[in-house]
Amino acid sequence: MTFDAARPDLTVGVIGTGAMGRGIAQVTAAGGMQVLMADSRAGAAQEARDFIGKMLERAAEKGTMTKDEAVGAVNRIRIVGGPADMQPCHVVVEAIVENLQAKQELFGQLESVVAPECILATNTSSLSVTTIASRMKTPQRFAGLHFFNPVPLMKLVEVIDGLQTENWVGEALMTIGRRMTREPVRLKDAPGFLVNQVGRGYTLEAAHLVYEGVAEFADVDRVMRDVGGFRMGPFELMDLTALDVTQPASELIYQQFFHEPRYRPNLIMRSRYEAGVLGRKTKRGFYQYDGEMKALIAGEPAPPAPYSGSVWVSQAEPRGHDVLTELLRKLGARLESGATPGANALILVTPIGEDATTCAVEQKLDPKRTVAVDTLFPLVKRRTIMGTPLTEKSWRDAAHGLLATDGVPVTVCRDSPGFIAQRIIAMIVNIGCSIAQSRTAQPSDIDRAVTLGLNYPSGPFRFGDTVGPERVHKVLGAMHRIYGDPRYRPNIWLTRRARLGVSLLTPEP
Ligand code: NAI
Repeated sequence: MTFDAARPDLTVGVIGTGAMGRGIAQVTAAGGMQVLMADSRAGAAQEARDFIGKMLERAAEKGTMTKDEAVGAVNRIRIVGGPADMQPCHVVVEAIVENLQAKQELFGQLESVVAPECILATNTSSLSVTTIASRMKTPQRFAGLHFFNPVPLMKLVEVIDGLQTENWVGEALMTIGRRMTREPVRLKDAPGFLVNQVGRGYTLEAAHLVYEGVAEFADVDRVMRDVGGFRMGPFELMDLTALDVTQPASELIYQQFFHEPRYRPNLIMRSRYEAGVLGRKTKRGFYQYDGEMKALIAGEPAPPAPYSGSVWVSQAEPRGHDVLTELLRKLGARLESGATPGANALILVTPIGEDATTCAVEQKLDPKRTVAVDTLFPLVKRRTIMGTPLTEKSWRDAAHGLLATDGVPVTVCRDSPGFIAQRIIAMIVNIGCSIAQSRTAQPSDIDRAVTLGLNYPSGPFRFGDTVGPERVHKVLGAMHRIYGDPRYRPNIWLTRRARLGVSLLTPEP
């Protein structure tokens, strides 16, 4: 099939002109293409065109485009009655209600109207591209074109090949995506596509650890911002997106993956969703919001007094030992150097993927004096510690006071294999690796999509390489062993690279 995606007169139909459709029409017209726009609700397409006009006017005021360009773009948008008027289109993008039957009916109508080489695309966020195409006579010219909200601000667009999509269709959509000034990423159809699949690692693991009583929402958010480098913590993020979007999407991905434990949803989210405690839009989600939509969060308690007694650091994890002793020296700690702790020493362990209890039992340490410190990530902006269920408050306070000597905040969580950041980041990496293993997309494309679509500081593979594939593998292996839950089993794609000692971004010959 010859399809000229670069032709100057390329005409794109947009059906459904709500939040997404109007954004798609805007970037298409601003990219120099002609747009035909339709919506089943009377007046909706006109409202959308007026809205786009205002947006482009504002862009011209800000200087991101000239006034003439803005006027030219709006003039390229024509409102038509419905699918029957899409005959002149070279591409039609659908952004109607998220309902399989409605979408299948629409594409059935379009197939009988448009030319045989016209590309038909869906902006669905949760339905399978392959399933939508299953009722079509010509599924080979059908693909997903998944934008993010708000479209003009979010550069990523996922170009999704369904099972029967021919190669030229994806290639053409990549070109058209670039003409829309987007950053397209090509992938194969999969539940949650790319970005929404990786996003489960962040939000669901956070919900699981709060459900287990490891920490409060605000503590998890603080750790993920300060230690993980995320702009928003998982609970702040869910409050922004709202649980009536996140929860159904999470449940659907879990079902579509035949109950793969890695994507298992959690009661914490489900019960809030059912109670209508959805997030910012209901003024109450994981946080309560005031009249100005500021989250009401209690401040962190002041740290206990600095500790001046002796400290023994376990050498079971040599790197963690070195990192921690270097910091403790700077903090002026009285370090013991014996092979076993003195009778009155604070005992510090530096587990990777293990909980404090496992460390104390396996290393034959006094569990009442044992406190674990997370050394996997830089100890610069925040430090995380946890005790065993028997660790006495005075020893936990001693560790807290000591590690806060230089004013760096310390989060104290309950005993947890992988603390907070280790386990959440390990889950993100593990999910990224399972996407790479299924050949849904290339690792570098997965990283690009995740940083663009989710605003994470790194994609799964760069995260994995920064921590070290072996260490991520170790976190998951320990969690899997301690919990006995297949949710945490390391993906074989990750295992191989960890064992070979290579970067997760190493291309396969
Ligand atoms: P919306 O509710 O804002 O807009 C949908 C529009 O489609 C409405 O104007 C409605 O009148 C119209 N419509 C419904 N059925 C129609 C039909 N049979 N024919 C013509 N027009 C019809 O919804 P939104 O948020 O724009 O979502 C649209 C699609 O984009 C959905 O498939 C959604 O899953 C997907 N999507 C949504 C994202 C979001 O963050 N809102 C992100 C990415 C994809």
